[in-house]
Amino acid sequence: MASYRVDLRSDTVTKPSEAMRRAMASAEVGDDWFGDDPTVNRLQERAAEITGKEAALYVPTGTMANQIGLRLHFRGTGHLVVAEATAHVATTEVMSSAALAGMAFKTIRGDRRGRITAEQVTASLAPDPEDVEVVDVVALENTHGHAGGRVMALEDLRAIAKVAHDHGVPVHLDGARIFNASVASGVPVDEMAAEVDTLMFCVSKGLGAPVGSLVCGPGELMGEARRLKILYGGGWRQAGILAAAGLVALEQGPKRLHEDHERARRLAEGVAEILPGSVDPADVETNMVFVDTAAVGRDPLETIGRLRDAGVGATFVAGKVRMVTHVDVSDEDVGFALAAWREIVAR
Ligand SMILES: Cc1ncc(COP(=O)(O)O)c(C=O)c1O
Repeated sequence: MASYRVDLRSDTVTKPSEAMRRAMASAEVGDDWFGDDPTVNRLQERAAEITGKEAALYVPTGTMANQIGLRLHFRGTGHLVVAEATAHVATTEVMSSAALAGMAFKTIRGDRRGRITAEQVTASLAPDPEDVEVVDVVALENTHGHAGGRVMALEDLRAIAKVAHDHGVPVHLDGARIFNASVASGVPVDEMAAEVDTLMFCVSKGLGAPVGSLVCGPGELMGEARRLKILYGGGWRQAGILAAAGLVALEQGPKRLHEDHERARRLAEGVAEILPGSVDPADVETNMVFVDTAAVGRDPLETIGRLRDAGVGATFVAGKVRMVTHVDVSDEDVGFALAAWREIVAR
């Protein structure tokens, strides 16, 4: 196991704060399979309140949350989910969708910001004259991970949701990092959520909790959502131990996400100076920095290896070196990471 002085591999590597650990230690719990865990129930109520949806369901992972969210709208094997080609649900999770639910994707190629247009979605929903191809749901992602943590503009979200709904097709939003999107754009989470039928968000990413995601949507779908959670092996028991940290994350996490965004921007500015042409700091809208080392003749995997040797964790995503800031990354850590880049480039 590599040990990192500064771990920028993902915002999922965070350790629970003291406040989270205290809340976990004293959490009131019950058997969540029966709906008896008061702390889980509180987290679900709070998630529903914040997103403006009728109900929410706490599940172990973002992948499970998306799988449940999509399947709630899915009407049959061989039907399609429209999604941007590099969306998490269509790439990293695609095998789960196929294996668990027989879901297939009809992908739309977005621009370099991961942006798709209402016109593209309209074209993808055009009725099939042969009546063979059926689209059950449109899946969107905000922020868009593979495109570098980019924010989806509210006008785009509105326009796409409108054409989907005009075609009678529901919309699911992968909002794993919706709070980052909200902080960066100033658009409240419930305003984005109002445009979609279901959404999920993770407390385990930028918000800093150790485990969990919430599927949010209409109350009438939550019985089926709970059934799917159990079907997928997510019938955890005294999960209030984890939900207690989720509640702290939800109250305290969003307030400090701007710091992650500022540090990501500083990191990008530093790398742009050290390795001109590899990253445009203006592309950094939230907590992710994608460095295109190949564009300046440096192998990304080798660079990641050298960063690792220098004590800095980064990952290979979309052909680039990805670094993600989070609650456990300080200004000093940004300085440390930049010193490592400087050293690697000088060698
Ligand atoms: C955009 C997005 N959606 C969903 C997920 C899945 O979350 P999890 O890793 O908790 O399954 C991730 C994970 O990084 C993600 O980045």
